[in-house]
Amino acid sequence: MEDLIYKDFKAIFNGHTPPYSFLFLDELDKNIDLSLKRAGDKQIRVATKSVRSKDVLKYLAQKLGNRFNGFMCFHLDEVLWLSEHFKTSFLMGYPQKPNEVQARKLAQRVQAGHEIIFMVDSTEQLEHLNRIGEMFSVKFEYCLDLDMSLKLPGLNFGVFRSPLDNQNKVDQLVSKLKDYEHVSCVGLMGYEAQIAGVRDKLYDNFLLDFVVGLLKSFSVKKVYQLRAYATKKASELFKLKFVNGGGTGSLEVTAKDHSVTEITVGSGYFAPALFDGYDKRFHPALGYAMAVQRRPSESMFTVHGGGYVASGAVGRDKAPVIISPKGASLIKNEMAGEVQTPVEYKGLQKIELGDPVFFRHSKAGELLERFKDILVVREGKIQETWKSYRGEEKCFL
Ligand SMILES: Cc1ncc(COP(=O)(O)O)c(C=O)c1O
Repeated sequence: MEDLIYKDFKAIFNGHTPPYSFLFLDELDKNIDLSLKRAGDKQIRVATKSVRSKDVLKYLAQKLGNRFNGFMCFHLDEVLWLSEHFKTSFLMGYPQKPNEVQARKLAQRVQAGHEIIFMVDSTEQLEHLNRIGEMFSVKFEYCLDLDMSLKLPGLNFGVFRSPLDNQNKVDQLVSKLKDYEHVSCVGLMGYEAQIAGVRDKLYDNFLLDFVVGLLKSFSVKKVYQLRAYATKKASELFKLKFVNGGGTGSLEVTAKDHSVTEITVGSGYFAPALFDGYDKRFHPALGYAMAVQRRPSESMFTVHGGGYVASGAVGRDKAPVIISPKGASLIKNEMAGEVQTPVEYKGLQKIELGDPVFFRHSKAGELLERFKDILVVREGKIQETWKSYRGEEKCFL
């Protein structure tokens, strides 16, 4: 996709009226190979939040073959839906308290032999899970979520998620796990967000990027130690099925951790714009097109919509980027708008009304909350149309 010029893009999508989203399968294939290589000898669990298309998930599961270890999901209703279509392991990546309807359905799925694993980090969550396990006569499986952030004076280098951020807190929780009869610990997760989610080129400033790089390397020690400690402690009481770590941005680092058995990968498959800032890159595979509708000045045109801004700390890096035509850029004071996006154009192409402008989103799966269909391109031709979650009337978060 990166080698294509505007004429090529236009030829591929000739006859399609923007807005539309598209996926380049050749790039996706390269990303799958890269993920397998970078994960070393670890299994891969696919982060569904960064994909949000059942058709793409199916493709990934098949291509990853025996290295595929299941999905990391972000909503219980998503687990219920996907488990109608896949026979694999479903790990909830984030704690969610099931309501009664969800609990009943989840219990039925577990009783029918599906592997559904809840995420917990406190006795409060465990008590609830234990209660519904008892209510529906099922033993629910869960995974303990460790906090991998590095605590420095005035700085939490990482994310605020789980309270289990040191060995004492792990000991305290682990010592109570056997009190709950209707649940069983089968896994551990330690997501080193400060390595996986913080770009190597963050500030456009060599010195600051260097300091962030140092912090990243420094935090690896804590990550390895806490994961190893928790693995040892939990393994004394339970037979663990997996120890999960990492994400796209930390593949190599996580692959070197002997405690880890599987790595989560999602964003790397679409390689959105945020991931351009990592030293180890993937191939951009997913994008979208919006149509030119008017010209506010000689050197500008305006496209219809396009303001699909990513979640996270607000900043310029959460805006979409224009891939093609070259010489087109967003305007600082307006950026990508709700229904109108003005674009400054210094390129040489003749741009007409209705012509497409091609963008990439800053994050991976979020784009597909905006599109029902994905035009699937292989060797420069649209081969198929796949559905996003939205296209299947699914909207979880
Ligand atoms: C728990 C967890 N694991 C792994 C990841 C990595 O996902 P990705 O590969 O899409 O960056 C994330 C992303 O936020 C996450 O929340």
